[in-house]
Amino acid sequence: MLTDRIKQKFLSEFHKEPEFIVRSPGRVNLIGEHTDYNEGFVLPAAIDKSIYLGFSRNQDNVCRVCSLDFAETDQFYLDQLAPRMGGWLNFIMGVADQFQKRGMELGGFDCVFGGDIPIGAGLSSSAALENGVGMGLARLFGHAVNKATLIQISQKAEHEFAGVQCGIMDMFASMMGKKDLAIRLDCRSMEHAYFPLNLGSYQFLLLDTKVTHSLGDSEYNNRKEECEIGIAYLQQRFPSVKSLRDVTVPMLQGAIGEISPTVWNRCSYVVEENERLLKACDCLENADLAGFGDLMYGSHNGLRQKYEVSCPELDFLVDFTLDRVDVLGARMMGGGFGGCTINLIATESVDNFVKKAQKAYLNQMGRQLSAYTVNISNGTEIVEKAMN
Ligand code: GLA
Repeated sequence: MLTDRIKQKFLSEFHKEPEFIVRSPGRVNLIGEHTDYNEGFVLPAAIDKSIYLGFSRNQDNVCRVCSLDFAETDQFYLDQLAPRMGGWLNFIMGVADQFQKRGMELGGFDCVFGGDIPIGAGLSSSAALENGVGMGLARLFGHAVNKATLIQISQKAEHEFAGVQCGIMDMFASMMGKKDLAIRLDCRSMEHAYFPLNLGSYQFLLLDTKVTHSLGDSEYNNRKEECEIGIAYLQQRFPSVKSLRDVTVPMLQGAIGEISPTVWNRCSYVVEENERLLKACDCLENADLAGFGDLMYGSHNGLRQKYEVSCPELDFLVDFTLDRVDVLGARMMGGGFGGCTINLIATESVDNFVKKAQKAYLNQMGRQLSAYTVNISNGTEIVEKAMN
């Protein structure tokens, strides 16, 4: 049990028991990629791969944090918070910084965290960590912070301490997840609705390319800027346009040749992806899994050709499914340039499919492939209380 490992490490590292343990999950996204920072729709869900964090106050005015998975302990002072060159402590300091900036006083604390979310696989381990730290600090120091604020705190921490101008999807899904339900989130109004996943004899399966592209973060920020260039142009012609959410296909058609082909493609992808997502929700409601799968392929093609955030490994894994009748849909998931594909596959085929995909991937790409079956779970929560 991961909670037992956290408690043992807490004892050996800090010579006491944690006051409580928080569980904070990673996420999948079924469809709706790179739409969140364009005020569009996303369809994520929290998963049963999580980070567990034990917390306790200390009297030493220092914040000591131990990562089980990195086998490292590090520390920081609350009056000297500044981003460092990379590293996991940034996510924790970034959250502490947001509490203080919002006038919520903190004190010294000890924390041990670890989990089973594959790191760098596009399953939002960093959002899970930030959410877990936020919920932990709120409880530890008696601040009544609602989930919406904790989500904002996590996003700001990522912007300011990790340097990624991410949207709201990852932290929202990790915090607000509900067992067996996907969340359709309108990233403009923050309105959200839960969708039952009646997959029958099918399931979602993740294939991990084991590729983490070093350009991922900078390319992510570039995409955001390219969308902003597109919006600035469209606003001149259509003053009511506030974001790509307000843009329609005919509006974009009128802009062909007026904006660079690259910017046009980025905008066109986002407009189409929002449409695909709404259709995908209809498919879920009508139990049309084949229709849902087709939309997943459409999403991947757009991400590959128009948004250009895929990579050869992701494309290989999606293409590998194309002539298999037991896979209804596949697409890259998350920011791109590596990480996982998400596949909608017949449950009875999973073992056979994974073996074949692993063999082909090793032959063609020279890399080992990992596969994860995930269950849809609840969001960030306190799982063990008052241990001393
Ligand atoms: C990353 C970001 C999210 C979202 C996705 C792409 O996961 O953190 O905000 O933009 O990429 O959909």
